[in-house]
Amino acid sequence: MSDLNASKSGTFKIGGDLTVNRLGFGAMRITGRGIWGDPADHAETIRTLKRLPELGVNFIDTADSYGPDVSERLIKEALHPYAKLVIATKAGLTRSGPDIWAPLGRPEYLIQQAHKSLRNLGVEQIDLWQLHRIDPKVPAKEQFDAVKSLLDAKIIRHAGLSEVSVADIEAASKVFKVATVQNRYNLVDRTSEDVLDYCEKHNIGFIPWFPLAAGDLAKPGSLLDTIAKRHNAAPSQIALDWVLKRSPVMLPIPGTSKVKHLEENVAAVNITLSDEEFKALDNEGKKVFKAA
Ligand SMILES: NC(=O)c1ccc[n+]([C@@H]2O[C@H](COP(=O)([O-])OP(=O)(O)OC[C@H]3O[C@@H](n4cnc5c(N)ncnc54)[C@H](OP(=O)(O)O)[C@@H]3O)[C@@H](O)[C@H]2O)c1
Repeated sequence: MSDLNASKSGTFKIGGDLTVNRLGFGAMRITGRGIWGDPADHAETIRTLKRLPELGVNFIDTADSYGPDVSERLIKEALHPYAKLVIATKAGLTRSGPDIWAPLGRPEYLIQQAHKSLRNLGVEQIDLWQLHRIDPKVPAKEQFDAVKSLLDAKIIRHAGLSEVSVADIEAASKVFKVATVQNRYNLVDRTSEDVLDYCEKHNIGFIPWFPLAAGDLAKPGSLLDTIAKRHNAAPSQIALDWVLKRSPVMLPIPGTSKVKHLEENVAAVNITLSDEEFKALDNEGKKVFKAA
């Protein structure tokens, strides 16, 4: 095994049966600007994706809406037939231009999009399919029933939610088994602390998006900066290590379209934060979050 390997982040069993290395990859950033259209550098994007299995990254997160379709198709182009890779996708957000996202949770639309993802990814079953947003204009139960029908039809193997509260997870759990939850979470965004604790208690994978963020905590001379220098590391690597150490159900998916950044993110697993460093960062992160 090379010195650079995501397996050092430990493993988690999604839905109790799909084992992944906890440090995954987010494929939202492999499209054009505004998560719209083709990437600026197609060759580098393909190189980045092909480097994933070499680095032991075997959990990839994408969505029908990234591009739209572009991210899923690039994953297929670079990595199909996915030996030992777990590919997660989502649906429930429509796109009408760069940086424009609107929820659409009509059951027939969700089911259509899952079928489209099968084709875009070139698979017979989607490993993990996530409801990108619960559409407030459609009864939640109808959206959960659509997810259940996809599970029953074996179009998807496991199902997850995104940007949800504990009450949402409890409501969805009455209809289908919630395997994962994907909410924004990082050192300085602790809005979903209660959701994370709930997931840990119920062994639901928690996929924090925007995991590299550290906001003002990354300023020169800050605690994060000092700890990063102590480990000869970048502040973003320490931010990622902190997220990984926070919970055994944590599955961070830092996203990049550059091999160099990918390698730097994976190298973060070689750094071991002490319990004191973890606690000090925890306190500082909470302070920044409360002040924001
Ligand atoms: N469920 C949701 O609603 C939702 C919302 C947003 C994102 N997501 C998922 O979460 C994933 C991660 O979220 P994110 O992309 O917002 O946040 P992120 O992974 O924390 O940050 C990505 C940004 O950091 C840069 N970056 C990555 N590695 C770097 C490095 N080593 N050095 C310097 N810059 C680096 C990337 O640019 P470069 O390309 O230049 O490296 C990109 O601009 C996405 O890919 C997507 O799968 C989900």
